[in-house]
Amino acid sequence: MHNPPYDDLRNRRKFLFNSGRLLVMLSSFSLLAGACTNNDDRENRLADLVIEQGKIVLDLNESRYHALNTIGSGLKIEITRQEKPLIVTRVSETRIAAFSSQCTHAGYEVLLPEHGILVCSSGHGGAFDLEGRVVNGPARSNLPNYETQLIDNRVHIVYPSR
Ligand code: FES
Repeated sequence: MHNPPYDDLRNRRKFLFNSGRLLVMLSSFSLLAGACTNNDDRENRLADLVIEQGKIVLDLNESRYHALNTIGSGLKIEITRQEKPLIVTRVSETRIAAFSSQCTHAGYEVLLPEHGILVCSSGHGGAFDLEGRVVNGPARSNLPNYETQLIDNRVHIVYPSR
């Protein structure tokens, strides 16, 4: 037997219940989409870099790497969002150095060189030279470095792939 007001109430409840389920499904989907975006970002960052035979290659004729044409200068290269950037410095006419920007004292990021010295951003007083070697504590260990070669104005960095 039909009871119109009762049916109407039941239909409304059903509608609200289904709408709620739809909302939950939509928000789960957007969370998943967010996770995919992060992965895509990671791949995009790696794709920004030129990799040849497993080495990162920086062409110093490209404007984004021009800082490396000046002795005493440096730049940071972001490999992924998950790790602190790599610091690359011009040590001499023939030498380029590459090392982690993660301070060996407490993990803060090390800043780019000024007057040949790279200061830790923590304010603890740690400082490093253009090769990432400690010149002032409390950091006791040098910054982990990576082998480099400078060939025809292109820097080749042996950076382990993750
Ligand atoms: S974290 Fe760099 S000196 Fe403390």
